[in-house]
Amino acid sequence: MINIIGAGLAGLSAALELAERGIPCRLVSVQRSERAQSVLAEGGINAALDTMNEHDSPEEHFADTMRGGCFLADPNAVAGLTYGAPGVLRRLQALGVPFGLNEKGILLRNFGGQKKKRTAYAKSSTGKILMSALIDEVRKYESRGLVNRAPHHELIRLIIREGRCQGAYVRDCYTGLCAEFPGEVILACGGLNGLFPSRTTGTTQNTADAAAELFSRGVHFGNLEMIQYHPTTVGIPGKRLLITEAARGEGGRLWIKRKGSPWYFMEEKYPELGNLMPRDVVAREMFFVRRREDTEGEVMLDMTALPDEVWKTRLSDLRENIASQLGIDLRREPAAVREGIHYFMGGIDTDEKHRTNIPGLFAAGECCCLYHGANRLGGNSMLGAIYGGHTAAVTAAESYVPAGSEEIRFSPPDEEIIEARPEFNEALAEILSEGLGIVRSEKELDGAIRKARALEAKCPREKNRLALGLAMLMSAKERRESRGAHYREDFPDTDESLRRQTVTVSENGEPKIGFRPIPERRGQDAVHS
Ligand code: FUM
Repeated sequence: MINIIGAGLAGLSAALELAERGIPCRLVSVQRSERAQSVLAEGGINAALDTMNEHDSPEEHFADTMRGGCFLADPNAVAGLTYGAPGVLRRLQALGVPFGLNEKGILLRNFGGQKKKRTAYAKSSTGKILMSALIDEVRKYESRGLVNRAPHHELIRLIIREGRCQGAYVRDCYTGLCAEFPGEVILACGGLNGLFPSRTTGTTQNTADAAAELFSRGVHFGNLEMIQYHPTTVGIPGKRLLITEAARGEGGRLWIKRKGSPWYFMEEKYPELGNLMPRDVVAREMFFVRRREDTEGEVMLDMTALPDEVWKTRLSDLRENIASQLGIDLRREPAAVREGIHYFMGGIDTDEKHRTNIPGLFAAGECCCLYHGANRLGGNSMLGAIYGGHTAAVTAAESYVPAGSEEIRFSPPDEEIIEARPEFNEALAEILSEGLGIVRSEKELDGAIRKARALEAKCPREKNRLALGLAMLMSAKERRESRGAHYREDFPDTDESLRRQTVTVSENGEPKIGFRPIPERRGQDAVHS
């Protein structure tokens, strides 16, 4: 049986692919699928369906994704993703996802960093709706014994024997008892939100403990310095609340007060894409305009000129959410917004088939570093999760050998398990935020690295999380250039000799950072063969 760790979009997509091939899997997750991070995704999912009379094509989707990611993503993986996207959307539609429609098919909206309308949506609750479609589909296979759910179980460590991943050692969160789940492992455990409590739009139920454990066990990570700040978020207790990019895709505008009047700084500086420049650019501009001497107050997201029709048919749930959580009616007043952590482009290093450096171990979804380079385009994350989960499952299936009957025995843990520790988490988040903000410098990074090492001396039991945090800081230090989400005020230019992916490896608990060249793109036929 193949173990899938994580039951969001990537995990469900992998489970479906395996089940359709008749390969049994175990879907292991701390939360049930209904509470996975994926349900929070709002704005939409990209595919060049060309239903808007704009002559769009997968090749343009490929080019925008590569350019948006500042050429740090693997072009062969991105070609697979973008050429595969229309098929993913057709499949979702066949599963009953109620995408908006026009006479040519699925309606598409504008999203950042893309010149053509390419983002399919179900109002602004796309993640929730895609998840319910996949949950339903997976249920069919649960009843046939092909998908076996293990909710409320957390990964404690991988079982690596003779250099190969042979299973997962997991804990039942309710009883505290542990067991070995034998078989290959597909990791679909999401982004590193738990390292940034209160500072991210993501759920911190994703503690990042699994990633920290994997790092310490020798799993390679890539591009850890690449953290996406979403431009339009608002602080609420415990997290950053996302206002979807669809708000700007449908015509919302950003301004800040200058000399007493609204200044539409994005539209002035970037006449072509304006408020829909890629997120790294918008977030950085917002950060800088707030610091100018001739501006006052916060950056405002203004949707007051949007027609009623748009509110009714495309953004009604956004308006209701914001009204209930912030008490603001976006139809009548602008909202003050700031940049907030939203996505981790970096993560577990895989090849384009989603294999990690450990045989028998695969990774997909936000936990892996493959499709998004230095900056992810909005709408590509759900696509990457579904397509990636599918691809990881196809690869895992290639080498799958059915095992005999498996006896799973739960017993008390064979190692001390460190429970959640809010003070330590906050101290680490403070240090990481100091080094890994929107604008970075060697001085700040060195300061943060020193503080992380001092915290390590005080909290030796936390060595895994600290090592992962240090790996992020050290990757950011080693990238002495500015590229995508990584902006160094001491190296403000892009250095083409660093068009390379960082690869971070733990050697005796100490992160070591290297750079790997980006592969050449093969011919399109080869990508699909
Ligand atoms: O703004 C949003 O709706 C986010 C979408 C995404 O991150 O892909």
